[in-house]
Amino acid sequence: MTTTTSAALDRRYGTTDVPEVTLTETIAGQLAHRSVRRFLPSSVSEGDLAAIVAAAQSAATSSNQQSWSVVVVEDRERLARLAHLAGDQAFIADAAAFFVWVADLNRAATIAARAGHELGGADYLESTLVASIDAALAAQNAVVAAESLGWGTVYVGAVRNNPVAIAAELGLPPRAFAVVGLAIGRPDPDEQAGVKPRLPQSAVVHREQYDPAASADGVAVYGARLSDYYDAYGIEHEWTASVARRWKDAAGLNGRHRLRSWLEELGFPSR
Ligand SMILES: Cc1cc2nc3c(=O)[nH]c(=O)nc-3n(C[C@H](O)[C@H](O)[C@H](O)COP(=O)(O)O)c2cc1C
Repeated sequence: MTTTTSAALDRRYGTTDVPEVTLTETIAGQLAHRSVRRFLPSSVSEGDLAAIVAAAQSAATSSNQQSWSVVVVEDRERLARLAHLAGDQAFIADAAAFFVWVADLNRAATIAARAGHELGGADYLESTLVASIDAALAAQNAVVAAESLGWGTVYVGAVRNNPVAIAAELGLPPRAFAVVGLAIGRPDPDEQAGVKPRLPQSAVVHREQYDPAASADGVAVYGARLSDYYDAYGIEHEWTASVARRWKDAAGLNGRHRLRSWLEELGFPSR
């Protein structure tokens, strides 16, 4: 363990004006994260698959309920159909595997039915959040594990563009829905992408109480740093404009403003 600044930290923030950090191998791996959207042909060995799932299962889980499941898809035709359903994102079809992280209260429903209990407590927004958070935490542990094994990954929130069709494609039972997908594959070294700078810590960290003014300075310097990152790949990007566009109206949600009724259909009334 060393306390240091590092090139990895400079890349993470897009500047050499970075804090000193305590660096471990795990943290160094996390600092090097980037989403990978170009994959070389490959397949995931059973050993890697089991390691990734074991890491996912090692995440904390609300009340040890383990209210999540993962569907691992490797069939090329199913991958192509999922790519279409999830926003026509072609990299899904090229992935070695697509892990679909599922909020799963079906297991609890089965256990409750066997015990002769109702499952009214599953009908609330809190329960939808519990299962979704469990699924997301498991997924992120999987990302850290997969990257440590040399796999590239990218999340796919677009599985929520068509959650009912995705549930049918994956044969999900009632009270289960796809929270997020994760494409995994061997990174194509020719992909034009790198470590994408994040906001300075001053913009996201508050000490003791939230200070609404704190983020303004950080946001001001971040725009230029992110634009520099995109410039290197010949892309024009203005971060604050992208934020404003993203949250302007329902259009920024790619159809997902209807999620509540889809979730109800899938057994998550979310009252
Ligand atoms: C919940 C979630 C959903 C995402 N969905 C998509 C997606 O559907 N398609 C995509 O190309 N990237 C997706 N991403 C990746 C983000 O765009 C990416 O993480 C972000 O731009 C930061 O880039 P980096 O991961 O390379 O640091 C998603 C990320 C998260 C956390």
